[in-house]
Amino acid sequence: MLELKGISKRYAGEKTFALNRVDLRIMPGEFVAVLGRSGAGKSSLIRCINRLEEPDAGEVVWNGQSITGMNARELRSIRGEIGMVFQHFNLLPRMSVLTNVIAGSFAVMPRWRSLIGAFTREDRTRALSALREVGLEELAKRRVEDLSGGQKQRVAIARVLMQQPTLLLGDEPISSLDAVTAKRVMTYIAGLHIERGITIVLNLHDVAMARAYATRIVGITAGCITFDDTPEQLGEDELRLIYPPDEEDGINILNLERNEVHVSREYN
Ligand SMILES: Nc1ncnc2c1ncn2[C@@H]1O[C@H](COP(=O)(O)OP(=O)(O)OP(=O)(O)O)[C@@H](O)[C@H]1O
Ligand SMILES: [Mg+2]
Repeated sequence: MLELKGISKRYAGEKTFALNRVDLRIMPGEFVAVLGRSGAGKSSLIRCINRLEEPDAGEVVWNGQSITGMNARELRSIRGEIGMVFQHFNLLPRMSVLTNVIAGSFAVMPRWRSLIGAFTREDRTRALSALREVGLEELAKRRVEDLSGGQKQRVAIARVLMQQPTLLLGDEPISSLDAVTAKRVMTYIAGLHIERGITIVLNLHDVAMARAYATRIVGITAGCITFDDTPEQLGEDELRLIYPPDEEDGINILNLERNEVHVSREYN
């Protein structure tokens, strides 16, 4: 179980809290989509969970272990159990696809470099099998920088498979992909959830995608949770709460065809 207890975060020089005493309990096997306007605190929430950002207050507990209380060594070890996918993939662009996937089995990114020569046959076999799962086995020797965005995100998912995490965090993993590719990547992420029972917490900008894949939706508004329920309970009124009208110009962005709240029929 993942538990956030009173997590607050305020960035240096900022007047307002990016996260304001957030409490959240996520049970094993849940697929949680986090929705909210730009600047609502979605990335801060995800990043405070594995301490890519340090929360100012509160505690994050994962399977009985306090992540917020961990020292650097313990943190490295726990990060091995927590997979992460990002909008801009966070791969090593000049390295091969295979090397990137194998790197997933090392909890510490800087350290794996020294290990490149020490990849075992088993590492390679497992990495190739992970690549096969995302349909990229043929591209194992290609440099990552020569791949399309959708292929890169599938490499990132293969890296997660290699890592065998029990929790996957994602910060807008499909935001820089076109609709068809995004759907394909979401299908792979959903596979991690359905076939392997991995607990998933993803920030998404696409409400329809969240509805289609998540078992639970958490809405954040100005650093506070304003919605937390099943996709079925997310109606127009709830969406208006999560995506409040812009105070400056009074325009309700829900009425605009902004990508941010893109409720397309395609995925329903
Ligand atoms: N490194 C930082 N330094 C200062 N302020 C920051 C930093 N990162 C985020 N913030 C601020 O914290 C608030 C929450 O930002 P966060 O990135 O968590 O939002 P978000 O919901 O992920 O937005 P987006 O949808 O645009 O990615 C915003 O007001 C943002 O300006
Ligand atoms: Mg963000």
